[in-house]
Amino acid sequence: MISHNHRLDQQLIEREDHYLATAARINYYDLVIDHAHGALLTDVDGNQYIDLLASASAINVGHTHPRVVHAIQDQATKLIHYTPAYFHHQPEQQLAERLAKSAPGTDNEVIFGNSGSDANDAIIKFARAYTNRQYIVAYTDAYHGSTYGSMSLSGVSLNMVRKMGPLLPGVVHVPYPDCYRTLPHETEHQLAQRYFEAFKAPFESYLPAEETACVIIEPIQGDGGIRKAPAEYVQLVYDFCQQHGILFAVDEVNQGMGRTGKLWSIQNFPGIRPDLMSVGKSLASGLPLSAVIGRRDVMESLGAPAHVFTTAANPICCAAALATLDGLSR
Ligand SMILES: Cc1ncc(COP(=O)(O)O)c(C=O)c1O
Repeated sequence: MISHNHRLDQQLIEREDHYLATAARINYYDLVIDHAHGALLTDVDGNQYIDLLASASAINVGHTHPRVVHAIQDQATKLIHYTPAYFHHQPEQQLAERLAKSAPGTDNEVIFGNSGSDANDAIIKFARAYTNRQYIVAYTDAYHGSTYGSMSLSGVSLNMVRKMGPLLPGVVHVPYPDCYRTLPHETEHQLAQRYFEAFKAPFESYLPAEETACVIIEPIQGDGGIRKAPAEYVQLVYDFCQQHGILFAVDEVNQGMGRTGKLWSIQNFPGIRPDLMSVGKSLASGLPLSAVIGRRDVMESLGAPAHVFTTAANPICCAAALATLDGLSR
């Protein structure tokens, strides 16, 4: 923070408190943003801040990136929306092809949504449909979203489940490998083995592998504390999935879109080819757009209209996404 005058911020927030439900916010700091460019935020009192949050990883190319602003303005004059559930438009067509080609593997398809949460719901739908199995394995300390499906996958905050149960049945949580909390003298190899034993434990007592549809993992856990899973651990889990016909799904909503130096964080784990990937947040530089990118045969396991949203793949959002991808690949 460079200077601190907060009169207008405080007045506006007091008034908002009267109308906005408490459940909608994680209160980091009282800040009413007026405008933002690059990595600088300016509040309504004229104070400037360096944005180290990037709007929860939704602005990876920086605020009001000129290429993205231009794409939004240009598209807004042509077509603001027509639901791709009924008809086609070119920004959606171009983005579907570009995303399908961007992910590991050679034969992918894409489906669009409005939020990272609904993309993770889609992963549950496709994994269950493709495998005809019900169980999903997710990780403690993961955040996958706030819809019933994605909150059932999550394991990070009591207030995200309290008073709202029952959650989606069939979700089993296993501990996420934590390189920050090793045992004394434990090497990364030993840690990977220890957590892989913990991963296998449910399969040895109450979770039939042949009834398990998928494992969903963040290769680098975001809300869990920016924790990178050891490559050996990810490989062990991946191999286990392959041996048992379990799909391997990756949540790239937080760590995708260039956040880790590669377009997708799973590309830091050579040899892993996810069956399904959820993406969102920075995809359209913070405009509401998400997608699942997955193996063609998995994505073809559901018929129409199993996963449609009226405002998914909005043309302005898709144009912003194409410009954001251009910005990342420059
Ligand atoms: C890893 C991960 N998955 C999913 C989500 C949910 O995305 P959204 O808030 O767009 O629904 C988040 C949001 O923080 C996330 O960090």
